[in-house]
Amino acid sequence: MYHEINEESIEKLMDIFYAKVRTDKSGLGEIFNKAVGRKDEAWEKHKAKIALFWKGVLLNLPGYNGQPLKAHLDLPPFPRELFDVWLTLFAQSLEQIYTKEAAEPYFRQAQMIAQRFQIMLYEYKHSS
Ligand code: HEM
Repeated sequence: MYHEINEESIEKLMDIFYAKVRTDKSGLGEIFNKAVGRKDEAWEKHKAKIALFWKGVLLNLPGYNGQPLKAHLDLPPFPRELFDVWLTLFAQSLEQIYTKEAAEPYFRQAQMIAQRFQIMLYEYKHSS
């Protein structure tokens, strides 16, 4: 159990969370498998990138230089309800390795970002 968020625990969380995502049968898994690929190497690259993203958000470390919102705007359209699936799997993953106190700020950030993505994807995005 981790009592604090550090680089090691973020990397571990990526393994746990994306293992759930990859095998998810609600539709979320399919979106990821199509975009990321089905090979382990592709997933290792994806997890390394997202770990850098979280290290930036939570620990203020440099390294991530992608465009998170654009990556999602560029995906084929998917139902908004999948954000609930995403957040549920994320919460379950946090619970597996963090104490309640350490998981809380991590989950709060995930929720805020998920909220922003949803507004941009479903409320401001107009088809041309
Ligand atoms: C239903 C919800 C979501 C879906 C279906 C989804 C799907 C994806 C997919 C398929 C990619 C890979 C794109 C590619 O490599 O071509 C991706 C990238 C990414 N996702 Fe999500 N995502 C979701 C929610 C979130 C949330 C809530 C966060 C953050 C809290 C997040 C953070 C990221 C980041 C940082 C990247 C990397 C962007 C880049 O630099 O390329 N995603 N997402």
